[in-house]
Amino acid sequence: MTSPANQFDKKSEAWSALFSEPMSDLVKRYTSSVFFDKRLWQADITGSLAHAAMLAHQGIISAADHQSIQTGMATVWHEIESGQFEWKLDLEDVHLNIEARLTQLVGDAGKRLHTGRSRNDQVATDVRLWLRGEIDLIGELLTDVQNALLAIAEKNAEVILPGFTHLQVAQPVSFGHHLLAYVEMFSRDAERLHDLRVRVNRLPLGAAALAGTSYPLDREMVAKTLGMVDAQGQAAICQNSLDAVSDRDFAIEFTAAATLAMVHISRLSEELILWMSQSFGFIDLADRFCTGSSIMPQKKNPDVPELARGKTGRVVGHLMGLITLMKGQPLAYNKDNQEDKEPLFDTVDTLKDTLRIFAELVGGITVKPEAMERAARKGYATATDLADYLVKKGLAFRDAHEVVAHAVKTAIQKGVDLSELPLAELQQFHPQIEADVFDCLSLRGSLNARNTLGGTAPAQVRLQIARHRLRLAQAPS
Ligand code: ARG
Repeated sequence: MTSPANQFDKKSEAWSALFSEPMSDLVKRYTSSVFFDKRLWQADITGSLAHAAMLAHQGIISAADHQSIQTGMATVWHEIESGQFEWKLDLEDVHLNIEARLTQLVGDAGKRLHTGRSRNDQVATDVRLWLRGEIDLIGELLTDVQNALLAIAEKNAEVILPGFTHLQVAQPVSFGHHLLAYVEMFSRDAERLHDLRVRVNRLPLGAAALAGTSYPLDREMVAKTLGMVDAQGQAAICQNSLDAVSDRDFAIEFTAAATLAMVHISRLSEELILWMSQSFGFIDLADRFCTGSSIMPQKKNPDVPELARGKTGRVVGHLMGLITLMKGQPLAYNKDNQEDKEPLFDTVDTLKDTLRIFAELVGGITVKPEAMERAARKGYATATDLADYLVKKGLAFRDAHEVVAHAVKTAIQKGVDLSELPLAELQQFHPQIEADVFDCLSLRGSLNARNTLGGTAPAQVRLQIARHRLRLAQAPS
């Protein structure tokens, strides 16, 4: 029997009257979540306090009980924060652990906390509260990564590297411009998080087990206490009790957005790895992000970007896991939902660590402009400029394309760049080619010519950097 002052010590005792045999240790381990969901403790206590305040306000519990709950929860908070709290596998999850300790501390008032509430609406609320905080932290980290990229883009607005399509030299681009492509990606990631945060920040509490509750709860009050409000400051509440306890769309949406952010990191990583290889030699990464080889003394390996590329795979896996978790579930809550936590937690941890490290890693990139420019000279990157030059002299683009193809073929046979062919020779391909052709055949001429919105001309790059800086300064926090 449970003593009145000590509601339950073991999980089975929380609903023991009906049960005639204890759970085996294996089943306890299999069904418990406390060793991973304990990270929700702050959200759990915060949610419980909002619930208790509302119960007291509505006259469902007494002011004295409310006071005891507040005092008891302050102790629990302190115990957990200072590492003194004893987490019990027997008590299954973070919710039962905290409630049992509260009851141990304050007696009957602790037992009244769960009035009009179920762990089903409680856990959904906790995960949402916790995730909301993590989204805000990730938003800040995305800003840090963008700022790091902007700083190096600004320094390298004039640096030329070959732009590739099909990994074949295509046209010269500014290295700053290339980096700004990633700023665009990370800015969309931040935008997506901001957007989905609205759907995370809604209150399930009050749905109880699945059908709502017979107590006169004030859900709006709880929502407002917890900061679950819309842009107009109105309480944001899950409006259907069945959906409230069973919905995990918000976790899937978040993980999808996190997956995209990791995919962007992974693409950047792939480029950094290529650029640092001896064949490219475009950049060097600071030693603190690399490791050596235990056998080859000359090696310096870009381990951090390689791992980031690898970790992207596990986040993609978490997204698949969560989607699969939901696909066959009937309404409303099912224990399957306990499986949402580890993928979600690991997604948050992986993304946060990766963004943190990249904000630093980007600042530690050494750029090698000569190697970049040398590579840009290799692949006839200004061939399009020659075609454009002929178009400006009146040729149709397709005809100009053909003329330049012949010129490139000859240059390849001679092993020289287009700009190294003498004027007389160029004129054999088309008589309208004149001495001014060499302006357009230079890498810098080609770069500066692309001075339209979103183009690679350094003037455009600087405009974009200014725009991004303004945007980041104004970003909603
Ligand atoms: N640990 C559970 C979870 O993570 C809490 C909800 C349990 N509810 C229940 N009816 N068994 O989902």
